[in-house]
Parts: sequence; C-alpha cells; structure tokens
Amino acid sequence: MKTENHHASRRLSPSLQPKIIKTAKPAAYFILLLLTYSLGYLSYHPSSTSLPLSHSSPPPQLPEPVIGFPINTTELNPFRITTRCADPIPPETVRRTLVDRLFNGTSPFENFPPPHAAEKLRRTKRVKGWGSTGAVFENLIRRVRPRTVVEVGTFLGASAIHMAELTRQLDLQTQILCVDDFRGWAGFKERFMNIPMENGDVWLFYQFLQNVVTFNQTGSVLPVPFSSGSTLMLFCEWGVYADLVEIDAGHDFLSAWADINRGFRILRPGGVIFGHDYFTAADNRGVRRAVDLFAKVHNLKVNVDGQHWVIYSS
Ligand SMILES: C[S@@+](CC[C@H](N)C(=O)[O-])C[C@H]1O[C@@H](n2cnc3c(N)ncnc32)[C@H](O)[C@@H]1O
Ligand SMILES: *[C@@H]1O[C@H](CO)[C@@H](O)[C@H](O)[C@H]1NC(C)=O
Ligand SMILES: *[C@@H]1O[C@H](CO)[C@@H](O)[C@H](O)[C@H]1NC(C)=O
Ligand SMILES: *[C@@H]1O[C@H](CO)[C@@H](O)[C@H](O)[C@H]1NC(C)=O
Repeated sequence: MKTENHHASRRLSPSLQPKIIKTAKPAAYFILLLLTYSLGYLSYHPSSTSLPLSHSSPPPQLPEPVIGFPINTTELNPFRITTRCADPIPPETVRRTLVDRLFNGTSPFENFPPPHAAEKLRRTKRVKGWGSTGAVFENLIRRVRPRTVVEVGTFLGASAIHMAELTRQLDLQTQILCVDDFRGWAGFKERFMNIPMENGDVWLFYQFLQNVVTFNQTGSVLPVPFSSGSTLMLFCEWGVYADLVEIDAGHDFLSAWADINRGFRILRPGGVIFGHDYFTAADNRGVRRAVDLFAKVHNLKVNVDGQHWVIYSS
C-alpha cells in the first residue's frame, strides 16, 4: 500500500494539489446561494397573523431573496471538512480496491443473477437511455484515452455499456465506475413498467447488472450503488481519480451543481468533465445554469458537443 502510494504520488502532476485546494474555495458560491434562499424564507413575515388556514388557496408568493451584508466565503466553503484529497492510487488497482472496500471482496457480478431473480430480468440488447450513444462519448474517449471513467448517473447502463464498447475497440484497459443509487427517481415507475418490482423495491440495480452481463462487459464496468454525494467524497478520500467524469444524475440545479463540484475534484490533471442535457427539453431544470456558474467561478470554458456540455480541466 505504501509503495503504491509512493508510486502514485510520482505520477501526480505537481500542479494537482494546489489545484484541488483552489477548487474548493469558489464552491462556496453554492452555499452562498443556498443561504440566499433560506434568508429569503427567514425574512418573510406574513402581513396578517389572524388569517384562517386555507387548504385550497395557492401558497403566498415569496419575495426575491437578497443578501444585504458581506459574507465570508471561507466560512461557507463546503469542502472545508476534508482539506485535501488523498494521493491517487494507480489506475490498475482501482477495481480491486473498490471491490474490496465496497463489496467485501466479492464482485457484484459473481453468481449473478440469484435464482429467484433470473427469470424476471430481461435479456435484451436494447437498453433504454438518453443520448447515451452521442458522438461526444467517442470524441472524448479517443482524445483522453481514459484508464478510469466515473459515470455519475447510470440508470440501466446504456451510456456505460457504450463507453465500455468504445474503450474495448480502442484496446484501452479502462474501468468504468458507475455511480448510481439505482433508485431512479420518485414517479419513474410510471414510465418504466418493464423493470420488475418486489415489495416496493424496484430492481433497477439487478436489471443494470443483467444488461452489463448481456453485453459481456462485466470486466470493465463496476457499479457503485450509492448516492453520488457520499460516493464522490469517498473517492476523493480513497484517492480514486478519473480521466473522464460524466455527470448525468439529478437534473435540478442543486443536484447538478453538487455533482459537478464533487466530480471536478476527482479529475486527474488534464482530465475532462462532461454531461448530458445542456441542450434538451430537460436543460431548464437547472443543468445548464449549474454548468455555466461552475465554469464562471473557475474561469473555464464550456464547450458543447451535441446535447452535452464539456469542460477541459486544463
Ligand atoms: C438520466 S438517468 C442516467 C442515464 C444514463 N446516463 C444513460 O445515458 O442511460 C439518471 C440516473 O441518476 C440516478 N441518480 C439521481 N440522483 C442520484 C443521486 N443523488 N445519487 C446517485 N444516483 C442518482 C438515478 O437513479 C438515475 O438512474
Ligand atoms: C473568514 O473565516 C475564516 C474561517 O473561520 C477566518 O479564519 C478568517 O479570518 C475570516 N476572514 C474574515 C475577513 O473575517
Ligand atoms: C466478508 O468477507 C470475509 C472474508 O471473506 C468473511 O469472513 C465475512 O463473513 C464477510 N462479511 C460479510 C458481511 O459478508
Ligand atoms: C467477452 O469479453 C471477453 C473479454 O472481456 C472476451 O474474451 C470474450 O470472447 C467475450 N465473449 C463474447 C461472447 O463476446
């Protein structure tokens, strides 16, 4: 372990550490924004206290929030609890490390599917996704030739399997780490009837595993079935870095903003972060606003490739 770390730190560009620390500060804008909203709520006083409760009238309009005093952004820095990420572990140890630490040493693909699930899962070569085979994937994989890809938001695996096929064609030894809690989102069942459910538990994770098995990519795709927030912070603590980070989980502003900030912290020097829904019907939920604000506070350029946004770290 010690030698690994030593080896890893030699691979590390000297510019990485300062960059990571620098990255943390502007992220304070996020909290600032949150605070702006909560101040708006706190400073709202209903004009009359004796109004009867109404269950049918619309909620009152809140005034636009404003901050009327200076804010110390150091105190608001969301990354202060961990001042720096660990040195990167070598890419060839990433899969083993995660299988050991997340799954007690046993790959989720081992003995899959369990007998009680086998006949309920679909074995189809058509996997539902969204822009999951766009040209951006091939463009970036050819350019970056990644050893490690972190995908934040995987669903049934369409984009992850596509990336695995591209890296196989290029003969790259790539691991694609799929960060998804595999819970979907509230209400998604209405649109995805085919995914089995048992006792209210939707089998998104099992169907994803089955899809990876069907496409023969179990050696290059590894699920990380937890929330994006806890996972990306842990990757930073464990020294798990990526050459390519794809953001495609929660599409509201706060989720996208958090995922982009945390994803950027685990990018190797020269790495690329990109994501879906910069130009789609869903973009006004907040993705584009989060991407643009992130680029602005870091003085980086937003590039567009089809429906995707792309930011080069250097
Ligand atoms: C749009 S889908 C991903 C689609 C996939 N990239 C593709 O192209 O097929 C969004 C996924 O993000 C996951 N997700 C949303 N919020 C999350 C969070 N906070 N942590 C982990 N996963 C999350 C959902 O479970 C869902 O599977
Ligand atoms: C801002 O907060 C930090 C951390 O609490 C503190 O060290 C620093 O002195 C503060 N700066 C100002 C200008 O108040
Ligand atoms: C984890 O793995 C060890 C060693 O293989 C085994 O003894 C232990 O029972 C496992 N723990 C769980 C919770 O499966
Ligand atoms: C599955 O992929 C492996 C490489 O990971 C390859 O050796 C094998 O031939 C493939 N099998 C099929 C059926 O495509």
